[in-house]
Amino acid sequence: MAFHPSFTELPTDLPVTLILADTSAAAAWAREDDSVLTEQERNYAREFGAEAAATWSAGRVVLRHVLGSHLGQDPATIEIRLDSAGKPRHDDCEFSVSRSRRLVLVAVAEDPVGLDIEAVPDRDVALEAMQMLHASERAELEALPDDEVAAGFVRVWARTEAFLKALSTGLARDPGLDYIGAGTRPQSPHPDVDIHDLEAGIPAGHCAAVAFNR
Ligand SMILES: CC(C)(COP(=O)(O)OP(=O)(O)OC[C@H]1O[C@@H](n2cnc3c(N)ncnc32)[C@H](O)[C@@H]1OP(=O)(O)O)[C@@H](O)C(=O)NCCC(=O)NCCS
Repeated sequence: MAFHPSFTELPTDLPVTLILADTSAAAAWAREDDSVLTEQERNYAREFGAEAAATWSAGRVVLRHVLGSHLGQDPATIEIRLDSAGKPRHDDCEFSVSRSRRLVLVAVAEDPVGLDIEAVPDRDVALEAMQMLHASERAELEALPDDEVAAGFVRVWARTEAFLKALSTGLARDPGLDYIGAGTRPQSPHPDVDIHDLEAGIPAGHCAAVAFNR
């Protein structure tokens, strides 16, 4: 299937299609043309300030175009519903979406999937945010050299959010409950879920991870 030419399909050996859209560059049109959004989606976006509304809308526009290409359907007619935990779903495919600044990353897979992309934050922000992680993860991050803490934190955070999005709970489940680890490979705390770091095609200064709930 052909995705919109302004989107990039990322190479991966995992059972997932990964589509990256940069809405500050080639996919800037997604911030201008919200014609595929439903009235309900436009009303939802209006509840945010202008910048946040444009960012949310652009993410939903990209998602609709990706699902439209995947399902061979008009992006405007795709039925996206929220499940009981608040995860957006479609009856005919599994997907997950994540935004970081003006980047939008979408995963489409056979199994329920969770995806996260994050920009590496300042060290101070990382030191504060890592208090939300599992105590053993905090200890691993505290043992890192100072200049590696922010990147180390965001890698664990992306793994954690991908995991929680694959479970469908999102941050309604405390991100400090499960140990996934700051090591070279994520360790899944759940027998049905596998978690993977994403590297290929992820822009510099960002970390991304995907998880499958099989
Ligand atoms: C979903 C959540 C993990 C988002 O993380 P984030 O890094 O801020 O944002 P991302 O761009 O990576 O992800 C946002 C997308 O996650 C998806 N999402 C939302 N709830 C989800 C859930 N329960 N499970 C899986 N995915 C979910 C949506 O597709 C959302 O995009 P949309 O708003 O365009 O529909 C987080 O905000 C959350 O869990 N919220 C609901 C629970 C909550 O608010 N708890 C209190 C917060 S402390």
